[in-house]
Amino acid sequence: MDKLQTIQEYQRRIKRVVITEEEIKEAIAKAGKTISESYDGRPILLVSILKGAFVFLADLCRAITVPCEVGFMCAQSYYSGTVSTGVVKITMDLDRDISGYHVIIVEDIIDTGRTLNDVVKMLKARNPLSLRVVTLLDKPERRLVDFKADLSLFTIPDYFVIGYGLDCGEIYRNLPYIAEYGE
Ligand code: IMP
Ligand code: MG
Repeated sequence: MDKLQTIQEYQRRIKRVVITEEEIKEAIAKAGKTISESYDGRPILLVSILKGAFVFLADLCRAITVPCEVGFMCAQSYYSGTVSTGVVKITMDLDRDISGYHVIIVEDIIDTGRTLNDVVKMLKARNPLSLRVVTLLDKPERRLVDFKADLSLFTIPDYFVIGYGLDCGEIYRNLPYIAEYGE
């Protein structure tokens, strides 16, 4: 995407709102309650996959009412616009040993499933007390490797979405809702 596009062009590509701010808020409150109940009193580490999941993590951690820590790692599978390259690269790793934690990976969207499949394998090898995956969005139709999240807040059909952390060419992450993107 051309970063020098006009504001009209920027707005035109936001095709329609798919999930509203209110719907996201409600789903996160529910997920926070579920997580708080099932991990009551145990050491939780929420691991956010950057960059897409940073907004979701920020809201989800505030919906959790038991002590939890946060960690970040950067995994990239999309390098050009809306086309997946199929290569998952860890460009920034966690800063601590996870063996003493119940780890919850917090992801923005599961598409082909490749990113999480690789990240889960990698983190399991580090022997956490347990490992679960929560994703804001899931596009099951697009799956190329068999992968299922433990908790998925919304299932969507096969279209490219932006907002609430998700980008197209690094922009649109700041939209407070999820929208369909179109050229
Ligand atoms: P996967 O490895 O194909 O499951 O890719 C997951 C990653 O691709 C996500 O963490 C996103 O960064 C990106 N991605 C997949 N679908 C979309 C989309 O519809 N909008 C924005 N990013 C997406
Ligand atoms: Mg991502």
